[in-house]
Parts: sequence; C-alpha cells; structure tokens
Amino acid sequence: MNILITGGAGFIGSHVVRHLVTKYPNYNIFNLDVLTYAGNLENLKDIQSADNYTFLKVDITDEQSINRLFIKHKFTGVIHLAAESHVDRSIKEPLAFAKTNILGTIVLLNAFKSLWQNNWEGKRFYHVSTDEVYGSLGKTGLFTETTSYDPNSPYSASKASSDHFVRAYGETYGMPYVISNCSNNYGPNHFPEKLIPLFINNIINNKALPVYGDGLFTRDWLYVKDHAVAIDLAFHKGENGETYNIGGFNEWTNIDLVKILCTLMDDKLGRKEGTSLKLITYVKDRPGHDLRYAIDASKINKKLGWRPSVTFEEGLKKTIDWYLENKEWLNNITSGDYQEYYNNQYN
Ligand code: NAD
Ligand code: TYD
Repeated sequence: MNILITGGAGFIGSHVVRHLVTKYPNYNIFNLDVLTYAGNLENLKDIQSADNYTFLKVDITDEQSINRLFIKHKFTGVIHLAAESHVDRSIKEPLAFAKTNILGTIVLLNAFKSLWQNNWEGKRFYHVSTDEVYGSLGKTGLFTETTSYDPNSPYSASKASSDHFVRAYGETYGMPYVISNCSNNYGPNHFPEKLIPLFINNIINNKALPVYGDGLFTRDWLYVKDHAVAIDLAFHKGENGETYNIGGFNEWTNIDLVKILCTLMDDKLGRKEGTSLKLITYVKDRPGHDLRYAIDASKINKKLGWRPSVTFEEGLKKTIDWYLENKEWLNNITSGDYQEYYNNQYN
C-alpha cells in the first residue's frame, strides 16, 4: 500500500504520520508537505529514517508536480490534512486560505481521480476537516453529522468548500471517500499561535495572556494522539461516502481552561499558586468569533468503537511536560517570523 499523507509536517499530520509509520511497517507512507511556517520536520525526527517513510517537499496547489507524483507512486490511499489552519490568519489573508484549502484539495482530488477512475476498488480519499464548518452553537446543542454547514470565518468557509468538493467527487465520479470533522486539538508539536500552546509559551516567558472578548467562548478539546487513532480507524474501517464527527466530550470556556492551565503551569514551574493568573489580560475580540463548538461523537463511538483515551487533565499535563522538555523546539519556532506575526496580531 502506498499511502499519501498531506500536511504531515504540521501539528496533527505529524502525529498521524508517526502513528501509521510505526503501526503499519508494510505500508509505504509518503508525507507531502511544502513546509509553510506551520510545517516543521523536527516534529518527525524520531521516524525520519524509517524504511517505510518518505518525505516529499511539494505544494498541493502545484498541479504538475502533484500529477507527476500520483502517476509515479500510484497512491491507493490519501489522507489529506495540508491546509492553512489558523482563524486569525484567515481574517487577515482569506485568499491564501482559498488557494490552499480549496484549490489544493481540488488538485489532489483530480490527481486521484485521473489515476483510479476506472478502478476505484480498494481506493480511498480521506479528508480531514473541522467542526468549524458547522458554524456556531448557542448555549445548548451539539454538532451531528447532519448539522447544516454554516461557516463564519474565511478559514471555516474554505474548509466547508473543500468538504463539499470531496463529497461532489464521490457523487459525480464515484470516488470512494471518508470525511471527518473534528473539534479543537491540543498536544505536543502544536504551533504557538493557537490558544493552548501560545498561552503555555507566554506563561513560561511571563508574558500577558491575551483572552479575546469576555473569555466565555466554548471549545471542545481533544488530545491530538486520540485524533490520530480516530483517523486511522475511520480511514481503515469507515464506510465510503460517510462523515464522522470526532470530539473530546470535553467542553471548556476559554477563561476556565486558561485558569486551569495557569494552575498546572505554576505547579510544574515551581511558582507560587496564582502567579500566572495575574498574566490574564482581556483584549479586543476576534471578528466573527464563534461562541461555541461541541461535537456529538456518538456515531464514530457506536460504529467504530472509538473514544478518547486520555482525560483533559492528563492530556494537559502531558502537553505541558512536552513543551517544558522541548524548549529548543519552541525557541526555534518563536524566533524570526513568529515575532512579526505576534506583534501584528497582539500589539
Ligand atoms: P497545521 O497548520 O499545524 O499544519 C498544516 C500543514 O500543512 C503544515 O505542515 C503546512 O506546511 C502544510 N501545508 C500548508 N499549505 C500547504 C500546501 N499548499 N502544500 C503542502 N502543504 C501545505 O494544521 P493542523 O492543526 O495540524 O491541522 C491539520 C488539518 O486538520 C487541517 O486540515 C485542519 O483544517 C484540520 N483540523 C485541525 C484542527 C485543530 O484543532 N488544529 C481541528 C480539526 C481539524
Ligand atoms: P484557537 O486556538 O485559535 O482555535 P479556534 O479559533 O480554531 O477554535 O482559539 C481557541 C479559542 O481561544 C477561540 O475561542 C479564540 C480564543 N483565543 C483567545 O482568547 N486568545 C488568543 O490569543 C487565541 C489565539 C485564541
């Protein structure tokens, strides 16, 4: 089996690549990633010389190169994660999101279709998407697989569009596909522009913790390694043409989450309890900020037997330990362009 994973040098992709390379020594795993600011081969140092692993530095919007690679390696399965993934960046640069997330997905779909349209048997295009395509919940209710799409940010609009294209290729060309829509992930190797790693980094450096608006926005958090296991399961055992919602059964308002993070970090850093809480600073809200995301993951639980394996407290402790043990990773990432991004976003 030649399996193509796109975006494998990023946060979730690197956990998916490691999981599959380790678990399936008889598969050839190809990690295709152009290495944007969010892609980092340091994430995969431990498996980079595995016999069943190959890295390809390619842009998914580069049609010629993508077509050439599909013809050369005859990928029977694609697990597509490559994307621009940060909502705040999408507000500033929507076109970049349309290009990678929509056009890039269509380039991959076309390459896959050209190769296999006369022989779909045993092939699968697995599209990794987000719960943000469903828009915002009020105080109650959960997103199910049949919730209507109602995206509010350029990021979620571009992901919604890519989901529609995948589904359309299934309907129009008979392409076998599975889509999963997952809630907010956290864990090792998370780029420090997203809430949890940004705040861990700022606590380490005694910097302000910029909480948007009133901090009462709610997210459903899932440990990234549990997402990788869910993707493995749905890729192998999911039904063609189906969508699976993946979530943590774990809702937190931002402010409550930040308070727990502060307490855990004070403990790990040997600081007096309450020290980091003083860093909390309420700042101007994000435009179009979705109030609440929460996933009903009962379908993947019932059909494929998946559920998260770690509690939030365990996952957060593992995550904090990883950042404290990998200061070099964090320092490498937060030097250079990151400073410019940070100043533009927060000052
Ligand atoms: P990330 O930003 O950490 O990684 C994205 C990766 O894609 C990077 O390695 C980057 O170099 C690569 N990439 C970007 N543009 C590319 C291009 N044009 N060609 C080739 N590679 C390119 O993102 P992530 O958080 O790991 O998210 C991965 C996927 O999972 C995305 O599709 C995202 O929408 C989805 N998702 C993320 C979350 C989350 O909480 N992070 C939740 C649900 C779904
Ligand atoms: P984020 O990690 O960007 O994920 P998403 O917007 O895709 O859910 O943000 C998670 C929540 O944290 C979201 O409600 C926005 C909020 N947030 C802040 O309050 N301050 C910050 O500096 C960041 C990055 C996010």
